[in-house]
Parts: sequence; structure tokens; C-alpha cells
Amino acid sequence: MKIRPAVALVFANLICIECFYLPGLAPVNYCKKKDEQPTCKSDVKLYVNRLNTEESAIPYEYSYFDFCLPDDDSKSPVENLGQVVFGERIRPSPYKIEFMKNETCVEVCTKKYDGSTNGDNRLLSTMRKAISLNYKHHWIVDNMPVTSCFDTKDNRVYCSTGFQMGCYTMNKRTTCVPEIGQEDAFYIFNHVDLVISYHSGQKEEWGSKFGSNGGRIISVKVIPRSIDHRAAKCNLQNPEPLRFPLKPLGKNEKFEITYTYSVTFLENNNVKWSSRWDYILESMPYTNIQWFSILNSLVIVLFLSGMVAMILLRTLYKDIARYNQIDNGEDAQEEFGWKLVHGDVFRPPRKGMLLSVLLGSGVQVFFMTLVTLAFACLGFLSPANRGALMTCAMVLYVLLGSPAGYVSARIYKSFGGEKWKSNVLLTSMLAPGIVFALFFVMNLVLWAKGSSAAIPFSTLVGLLALWWLVSVPLTFVGAFIGFRKRAIEHPVRTNQIPRLIPEQSVYTQAIPGIVMGGVLPFGCIFIQLFFILNSLWSSQMYYMFGFLFLVFIILVITCAETTVLLCYFHLCAEDYHWWWRSYLTSGFTAVYLFLYCCHYFYTKSQIEDAASTFLYFGYTLIMVFLFNLLTGTIGFFASFWFIRKIYSVVKVD
Ligand SMILES: *[C@@H]1O[C@H](CO)[C@@H](O)[C@H](O)[C@H]1NC(C)=O
Repeated sequence: MKIRPAVALVFANLICIECFYLPGLAPVNYCKKKDEQPTCKSDVKLYVNRLNTEESAIPYEYSYFDFCLPDDDSKSPVENLGQVVFGERIRPSPYKIEFMKNETCVEVCTKKYDGSTNGDNRLLSTMRKAISLNYKHHWIVDNMPVTSCFDTKDNRVYCSTGFQMGCYTMNKRTTCVPEIGQEDAFYIFNHVDLVISYHSGQKEEWGSKFGSNGGRIISVKVIPRSIDHRAAKCNLQNPEPLRFPLKPLGKNEKFEITYTYSVTFLENNNVKWSSRWDYILESMPYTNIQWFSILNSLVIVLFLSGMVAMILLRTLYKDIARYNQIDNGEDAQEEFGWKLVHGDVFRPPRKGMLLSVLLGSGVQVFFMTLVTLAFACLGFLSPANRGALMTCAMVLYVLLGSPAGYVSARIYKSFGGEKWKSNVLLTSMLAPGIVFALFFVMNLVLWAKGSSAAIPFSTLVGLLALWWLVSVPLTFVGAFIGFRKRAIEHPVRTNQIPRLIPEQSVYTQAIPGIVMGGVLPFGCIFIQLFFILNSLWSSQMYYMFGFLFLVFIILVITCAETTVLLCYFHLCAEDYHWWWRSYLTSGFTAVYLFLYCCHYFYTKSQIEDAASTFLYFGYTLIMVFLFNLLTGTIGFFASFWFIRKIYSVVKVD
């Protein structure tokens, strides 16, 4: 097929690797200390972020462990809501780096432990546990993650963000590089070799005020090492690795860790500052392998949904033509198919209150997702803009209270509902309440574990304030406008007495229809889902927002089409209970999402302990709930639109 490379090109442009370098994230110019000017600085700040691991869902702040702390009280950078809520804690570090000044084995601090104090043994056991769970440091220099790189078998360099805190060899399982011994032992990485590449400055490029000996930082790579400085201080050539005590120290035992670092500056003028993130994003595993499979599935899904639309349109045209023919002729008795139920299709459903509330919240989630993805695709929410994605989503959710209230009110009014106060209250409380309650319970677990992801009390109050003082009033405003409007008019009148629904075959019964309905929409998202789950649970960066946006659009289309199709079949079988069914048909995709998350948990994730399992399923439930609102709402409005359309075309006396 010749068409494929062309299609690939179009999509490749969409995935926005190039458009990461966004407004607001200006480059920082560095220069040597003696050339320091207002336009450039010599002090390269190194920040430490929380530590995390793939084997647990609980991240910890740097200061949770007994590492060296900065002596001066330099300030932490300001964090946004998304960072705070999702456990990022960026703090200043004791590592001092000066631009273009190589350093060899600078001592940061020495931590001494004494077996006779209980506290010291506790500190050591916390670190031992973290090493056994493979916790990783995440450092930040010049707004770039510090990466650790190694060669893969196929001679490629693979760089991942962060680096291990230590390594161990136990029962034939090792996380250490071969240079470190193969005996059963724990080692701590107390020395780091930092390699900082920079793009040297040119006057024309950066303005004449800028000195000649300057540059911009391209990448910071780290090689963590374990060096026992007690034997020979700073023996970097063939050092003895520093063994971490396997058991608590005895009464007279002592232990010490000296933390050191070296810095090397390398000039690299081959990489432009604007593409400095590429090496991290490119070495993400799977991306290249999955590339074409994603494309192919996109094409297939597009093709399929085109077919579905075509079949539906042709059948409908035939139906309508036939109905109108009968009307023109003398004999109008021979009614059949979906026209028969015209007196019942708009009969309000049971539990109309709940349905209208779910739809209101669904609209809120839908627009939140749409706008967030659009922003992300335009490059505003790249990984360089830490936490921006979640902040954007949360702020949008809060601000979109009005559409939720409006939609919920109008739908509820069209059901003939009169308890408008309960309707508004439920719309503003139910969905956020469920999410908040889940979040709160998980936060208790995180808090009990001393994790950095436990949000501070002040942030919790802030979130509540956002909800109660911004979102709720906005929902009331929307609902007020919605209730003031006249109820939605339906194209056909509803009869007094409900029609009897004939016995249904297996295929047209409600539950098989609902279960089948979710398959196609799920089919088109599950490849992306793998990447998203990886980025959530294996701290891999997700950056294919262009693709995600496309997948979202395709999800909307497939949800709408399958629901409309099934709704049509049900109406043809004279079953007119479509309100709830259309919501549940596409909403069932969320159940598949849940099953996939379970599958991921058992096959891919390395989480084992109870607290992490609890957190995993907590986050999954939040995701599944929001996803159900989203897909259910899409399906409902597609059917709503479809049914209004077809019944306004046929003539009913
Ligand atoms: C730092 O070390 C590297 C590698 O040895 C060398 O290429 C570079 O010129 C050194 N830089 C300075 C400023 O001494």
C-alpha cells in the first residue's frame, strides 16, 4: 500500500515532538562565573524531586530518606496544583554546580550511623527497604530531568529519567551492573558522575549582551556509583563498592556513608536547545515498534465506522421512503418497525433524576477532556511544563460546572421533573463527591505511609474550596439558565398508555446489547491505553498527545455509532426503553477499561504490597468512573439526536 507512508507523515506531524518548545518556557543562558551578567547565570541549580518505583504506588519525598540536605535555606520552586496533588515535591539540593567548571569527587556530606541508637537503625532500614523495592531518584537541572543511560543489546542508547537509589543481589536476582560484585549484598549509590552537555553560545543567536563563554544546557546524564570511601577516599578508578548493611547494626557496630559527586561539562553543538527533549522521548521503549500498529488500527477503525454509518444511512432512507409511501397510499394500517413505537419513544425513563445528573457530569468530563487534549496537542502541556496537564484538567473541570448544570437541568425538565433543587445539588455533588471520597480514602493510606503523594491539609482545603466556592455556584448558574428555558420539545407526542413490548430475541435483549456495545470503542483505545498505563505506573513519559487526540475523536465516533446502531435495532424490535440503554451501551466501555486495568495489574505491573494494590485500584476506579460518564454521555446524546431526527422525518397522524 502506497498510501501508508503519506498517512504516517501526516500523523507524525500531529504527534508534536517538534512542538514541545512552547511559549513560556524560555531557554536559560549560562556562562562562567567571571563573565556573569544579568542575561546569563553561572549557578546551575540542581533540584531533587520525589523518589518512586515501579514496584509500588507510593512515592516518597527526598527528605524522607537520610540523604544530604542543603545547608542554606534556598527556596523550593513554586509548584502548581497538578504537581502537589500528584505527589511531586521539588526541593533544592546540596549539590552545587558551576557552569563550565569540571569537578572531581566533591564531598557533600557524611552520614554516620551507630548501632546503639534505635533511630539510626530505623533510618537504615527505611533505605534498605527502598533499595529492595528499586526506588529511583528524580533530579531536575534546568527544567530537564536528569537521565541515566545504558546500551541496549541492539547497540542503541536507552536513557530513562531518574536513576536507582541503590542495587542488590539476592537469591540469584540482581539489579546491579556486572562490575559490582555478584555476591548477595545491598549497595547504595553514594557517588554520582554528572555529565552535562551544553550548546555553546553565539552572539548573533542570543543577542550581543551575552558573553562569549556561555551556553545552554542540552542534557544532564548521571552515572550512579557505589564507592566505599572508608577504604580509600575518592578512588574513582577501581573502587570498592559500598555495601549496605543487610541487618540492623549490632550494639558496637558503626556505619557511614559519604556522598560525593563529580561534574563534567561537555560541549555539544550538534543538538539544538529546542530539540533537547528528543533523546528522552525517542528512547522510550515500544514507541517505534507500536508506531505502525497504532496507525493501522486507526485506519481500520475509521474505515469500519464509515461502513457502519453508510449501512445505517441506506437502511434508514429505505425505511423512511417506505413509511412515506404507505402514508401517501390508502392503506396506513400496515405500520411496522420503529415507527410503531412513536407514541412511546419519548416516554420519560424511570430514575430520570439520576440519568440527568450523570449526563450533566458527563458533559463536564467530555469538555474537560476535549479542551485538555487540544491544549496538550498544541504543545502547551508538554513534559517540560511539569504538572500542567493535571492542573489544566482540574481547573477546566471546576470551570465547566455551568454546562453540567445547564444540561442536567434541561434534560431533567424534559423528563417532566419538578424537584429542581435536588437536581442541581446532585449535579454539583454526586460525581465530584465520588471522586473526592475515593481520593480522600487513598490519601489517608498515603498519609499513613508518610508518602509524598499525600496532599497537605492546606491543599485539601484548597481543593474543597475550588469545588464548593467555584464549581458549585457555577453549576447553579448553569442550572438556573437551563430551568428558565422551555422544556425540550419532542417531534412526536407520547401516548397515554404505554405499549406492550413484544418478547425479545437474545440479540435484542438489553444486556447482550449493552455488553456488545462497548467492544468496538474499547478496541480503538486499548493500544493507547497501554502507553497511558505505562506512563502512570512505570513513570514513563507520555507525549503522544496528537495521537491521543485522534484516538479521542475516534472514540467519540465509535461510541456514537455503535450506540445509534444498537438503538436502531432495538427500536425496530419495538423496544422503546432507549434512554438508559443508550447511556449504558457505550458506558460499558468503562467495564472493559476496568478489566484491562486488572489485566495490566497482574501481567505488567510489579506492584505487590497491599497498600500499593489498594492505591492502584483506587486510581483505577476514579478513572473508570470518569470514563463511564464520558462514554455514556457520548452514546446518549448520539442516540438522542438520532431518534429526534428520525421521528421528525416520518409523518405521524
Ligand atoms: C571538562 O572535562 C571534559 C572531559 O574531560 C573536557 O572535554 C572539558 O574541556 C573540560 N572542561 C573544562 C571547562 O575544563
